[in-house]
Amino acid sequence: MDTKKVDEMIAQYESEKGALISILHDIQRKEGYVPEEVMSHLSDKLQLPLSEVFRVATYFEKSFSLVPQGKNTIKVCQGTSCYLKHADQILTEIKEDLGEDGEAADFHLEEVRCLGCCNAAPAVEVNGELLDRESAKKTIIKLKGEK
Ligand code: FES
Repeated sequence: MDTKKVDEMIAQYESEKGALISILHDIQRKEGYVPEEVMSHLSDKLQLPLSEVFRVATYFEKSFSLVPQGKNTIKVCQGTSCYLKHADQILTEIKEDLGEDGEAADFHLEEVRCLGCCNAAPAVEVNGELLDRESAKKTIIKLKGEK
């Protein structure tokens, strides 16, 4: 991402305290993720430690991604509640469903620590929609068919 564009985003929030989250949201919207070099640039420009920028970007894992997104994003929770309900098996099954080239093609698979809906464990989110195991698998197969 062009640092000039990042500087323009920073300028929009010049008078705002705690502008980092707003800027990260703008970057996420524009790029689909928050690139590492942009975090470094934000750290310099906002005079914040890089570790602070990284901490904020990773704390809100539902809002920000640090890797380029595929056309379809699948998040499989591996947090404690979900893990106790065999989320690891779901992750394995989804990897098998996606096949070898799933990530490189139209899918981005993420393991996350908590999707904030532990009562629905095991939690899987496909393109922002919380689904149960069977619905998630059906949706993925359907999306694969649309390629
Ligand atoms: S541990 Fe999976 S949603 Fe919270």
